[in-house]
Amino acid sequence: MRLSHFKIQKLYWNTALILLVIGVWFGVLASSKYFDLDIAGVHLEMVSLRPIHVTAVTMWIVTGAISCVYIYLYSATKIEFSVPLAFFQWLMLIFALMGIFSSYFIQKFGGREYWEFPPVFALPLLGSWILFLFNLYKSLFKVSNWPVYFWMWFAGGCFFLLTFLENYLWIFPFIREQYIIDTTIQWKSNGSLVGSWNQLIYGTAFYLMDKIKGDTGTSTSRSAYFFYMLGLFNLMFNWGHHIYSLPTHNIVRTVGYLVSMTEWIFLLKILFSWRSTIDSATKNFHYLPFKFLMAADAWLLLNLIQALLMSIPAFNLFTHGTHVTVAHAMGTTIGINSMILLAGCSEFICSRICLSDKVTTMISYLFWTIQISLFVFVVSLDSAGICKIIWQYQVTNGSFTDLSLKLKPWIIIFASSGTFLAVGLSALALVLIWMLNSPKTIKRI
Ligand code: HEM
Ligand code: HEM
Repeated sequence: MRLSHFKIQKLYWNTALILLVIGVWFGVLASSKYFDLDIAGVHLEMVSLRPIHVTAVTMWIVTGAISCVYIYLYSATKIEFSVPLAFFQWLMLIFALMGIFSSYFIQKFGGREYWEFPPVFALPLLGSWILFLFNLYKSLFKVSNWPVYFWMWFAGGCFFLLTFLENYLWIFPFIREQYIIDTTIQWKSNGSLVGSWNQLIYGTAFYLMDKIKGDTGTSTSRSAYFFYMLGLFNLMFNWGHHIYSLPTHNIVRTVGYLVSMTEWIFLLKILFSWRSTIDSATKNFHYLPFKFLMAADAWLLLNLIQALLMSIPAFNLFTHGTHVTVAHAMGTTIGINSMILLAGCSEFICSRICLSDKVTTMISYLFWTIQISLFVFVVSLDSAGICKIIWQYQVTNGSFTDLSLKLKPWIIIFASSGTFLAVGLSALALVLIWMLNSPKTIKRI
C-alpha cells in the first residue's frame, strides 16, 4: 500500500480520536476510585488509572494538534510534506505509547508528574517530535509573508521541544538531588508545555476562522499579531504563577503575576467582540466546525475568568492543590483545546462529504450533551474545591470525615456528569472515525 498525504492525515486523526476514547473512559474509571468501586472488574488502582487517563488525553491533544497542522499546513501552502517522515514519526509515537501504557499497567513508573512513565520512552517521543518539526519547518521556510497561524505553529513547535527537554532536566543528579529546584522546574515546564501546544492549536483556530469567513482578514489583521505576541510573551514569562507556593525568589513570583495579569486584555477583547461573535454565531451556527469554535470561545471566556483569579497570589494560596486546579486543568483542555481540535477534524470531514440530516441531528445532540455535562462537571469540581478551602481555613478545623461528607455530593455529581461527558465525547469521536474512513470522504487539498 502506497501512503499518500491524505492517508497520513487520516492516520493521525484516527490515532488522535482513539486516544480520546481511551482517555475519557480511563477518566471515568479513575473517578470511580473516589468511591472505591471496581467497575467491570478493573482492578487497576488510582496510581495507574490517573496517569493512563492523563497521558491518553494529553496525547489526544498533541496528536490532534499535529493532525491539524498536517492538514492545514498542506492546504495553506500547497507544499507537500514528506510522507515517509510523517509515517516514521507516527511509528515512533505508537512505539512510545505502547511502552508508556504497558508500564502504567504493570505499575512501572520512574518519571515526573504528567510524564510518570520510565524516562526511556521519552526518547521515541522526542524523536517523533523532531521529525514533525523537520516536516513543519521544511514547508514553512518555503513561504514568505507568514499569516499569524504560521507564526503560531512555528513558535508552538519550537517551544514544545524546549519545554519537553527542560522537563527531563531531572535526569541529571545535580538537579534531582535538590528538591526545590527539581519541583520548580517540573511545575514551570508543565505550565509552559501547555502554553506551547496552545500555540499550535490557536494557530489552527485562526486558519479555520479565515477558511469559514472565506478571506484572510482574521489572520493578517494587526490585532491577530498583537494577540500572538501577547500569547508568546505569556508562554515565556507567566510560568511564575505555577510556583507561587514554592520558596523561590520573589522576583519570579512578581514577574509571573504581572505577566499573567496582561491576560485581562484577552478577556476584555472577548467581551468587546461578544456582540459581533453572537451575530456571526446566529448566521453560521448550523455549520459543524463553527459550532465547535463558538463553544471554544464560550469556554475561553469562562475559564479565563477563573484562571485570572487563580493567578492572583492571594487567591492561589487557597486554590492550589484543590479541585479548583483540576477544574481549571480539565475545563481548559476539554472546553478550549478539545473543542478547537474537534472543529479542525469536522472541517476536514465536512469539506469532503455532505452530512445527511440524520447524522447532523445526531452530532447536534452529542454536541449539547458534551457542553451541558462539561458545565456541570466543572461546577462540581469547583464546588468540591471551595468546600475543601473552607474546611482548611475553618477556625475550629473540622475533622477529615467532616470534609469527606461535605465533598461526597459534589464528587457524585462530578463522576456522573463525567460519565455523560465520556459518553458524548466518545460517541462523537466514533462518529468522526466512521466518517473519516467512509469511502465517500474524498481526497482534496
Ligand atoms: C477530553 C477529555 C478530558 C481531558 C482533556 C482531561 C484532562 C485531564 C487533566 C489534564 C487532568 C490532570 C488534572 C490536574 O493535574 O490537575 C485530569 C485529571 C482527571 N480527570 Fe480528566 N480529562 C478529560 C475527561 C475526563 C472525564 C470524562 C472524566 C470522568 C470523570 C475525567 C476524570 C478525571 C479524574 C478523576 C482526574 C484525576 C483528578 C485528581 O487527580 O484528583 N476526565 N484530566
Ligand atoms: C487554553 C488555555 C489553558 C490551558 C489548556 C491550561 C491548562 C492548565 C493545566 C493542565 C494546569 C495544571 C498543570 C500545571 O500546573 O501546570 C494549569 C495550571 C494553572 N494555570 Fe492554566 N491553562 C490555560 C490558561 C491559563 C491562563 C490564561 C492562566 C492565567 C492567566 C492560567 C493559570 C494557571 C495557574 C495559576 C495554574 C496553577 C494552579 C496551581 O497549581 O495552583 N492558565 N493550567
